[in-house]
Amino acid sequence: MPAQWQSSRVTSIAASATVASVDRVKQLRAAGEDIIGLATGTPDFDTPAHIKAAGKAAIDEDRTYIIYTQSAGLPELREAIAAKLLRENNVRATPDEILVTIGVKQGLFTAALACLDPGDEVLIPTPTWVTYEACFTLAGAVPVYVPCGKAQNFRPDPEQLAKHITPRTRMIMLNSPGNPAGGVVTPEALSGIAELAIKHDLLVLSDEIYEHMVFDGRRNISIASLPGMAERTLTFNGLSKAYAMTGWRVGYVAGPRHIVRNMQKIHTHSVTCAAAFAQKAAVAALSGPQDDLHSYIKTLTSRRTQLIDGLNSIPGIKCGAPDGGIFCFPDISGLGISDQECSSLFLEKAKVSSLAGSAFGPGGEGHLRMAFARRNPNDIDIAIERLAAVLKKI
Ligand SMILES: Cc1ncc(COP(=O)(O)O)c(C=O)c1O
Repeated sequence: MPAQWQSSRVTSIAASATVASVDRVKQLRAAGEDIIGLATGTPDFDTPAHIKAAGKAAIDEDRTYIIYTQSAGLPELREAIAAKLLRENNVRATPDEILVTIGVKQGLFTAALACLDPGDEVLIPTPTWVTYEACFTLAGAVPVYVPCGKAQNFRPDPEQLAKHITPRTRMIMLNSPGNPAGGVVTPEALSGIAELAIKHDLLVLSDEIYEHMVFDGRRNISIASLPGMAERTLTFNGLSKAYAMTGWRVGYVAGPRHIVRNMQKIHTHSVTCAAAFAQKAAVAALSGPQDDLHSYIKTLTSRRTQLIDGLNSIPGIKCGAPDGGIFCFPDISGLGISDQECSSLFLEKAKVSSLAGSAFGPGGEGHLRMAFARRNPNDIDIAIERLAAVLKKI
């Protein structure tokens, strides 16, 4: 018997596994447990002081930053985003081709509602961040998983995407560097994906939230900067990861004017705008000094090595080097237990949180997602000691 007042839309999705796990760690900590939280996608760093100061000053300045802004976002922020996209991504967008959102998440949901009809198919390379599927399913569309697993270092590949194209395919969801496994699309593969999108008249959604976290000489290339792609790409980005601003809730999307206008229509009804003072802080983040970002990336680079080496020192765990992002995605299949069992064991017995790889779709099973965005290097050393000690006992 279906429950009352429960839509088929909501029963078609699961709650976010990543958010649930972070909530669980908060509960355990509140109960006095000493948990090292490696499950979270929240960088364990502080928002740089000049950005905080800009937010605080905005609240006190006058009423401009404590009331609704233009629904599309503060003009000065959209100017700053346009300048950033040109400077860092070689992507040209005018302020009316940009929508300021309440984080990338809200931008993605709005795009799904604005661009997809029921039955439309969206290609998603896996393992993948859990939210994409939910966005497309809630919009009535059909997420089509394209396994791009360990054998190819978790890098999306045009040939595999091509095999899943049908007359109903409308979109490709790209996330490079990727969550959970850090794959960065190679320049050749990116050109191949662009060709595929043009040939089959597909829209590309490119989530570039981890753009700065690329390692071993790699760099992020925005697919919208490739020939013929600006008119068929929505580029998503936000302040959460690069500036440790997850709680400020500011993101943005840039793309073809008619799509951004349609998204804005939904935005005016659903959220009106992102928080005004947070938008003002975002201007300071994007237009101000980038020294904090540079030193943060340096720190992340060394934490990544530390976590990889630590995990590889434990018998039964194999951890490759992620191309980018803030997570390691070790293969734990050598331990002889499932990824869910392993994640529960680590949380309950070692007090180290991680996420089971199977939550991230095909190719994720047998792996754990563990974040290395930790301020304190001791956290990683202690986590590794605790995991090794627990595994010795079983
Ligand atoms: C790939 C990816 N995109 C987007 C987000 C969320 O970004 P925001 O805080 O801007 O909503 C996350 C957060 O974990 C993520 O991993």
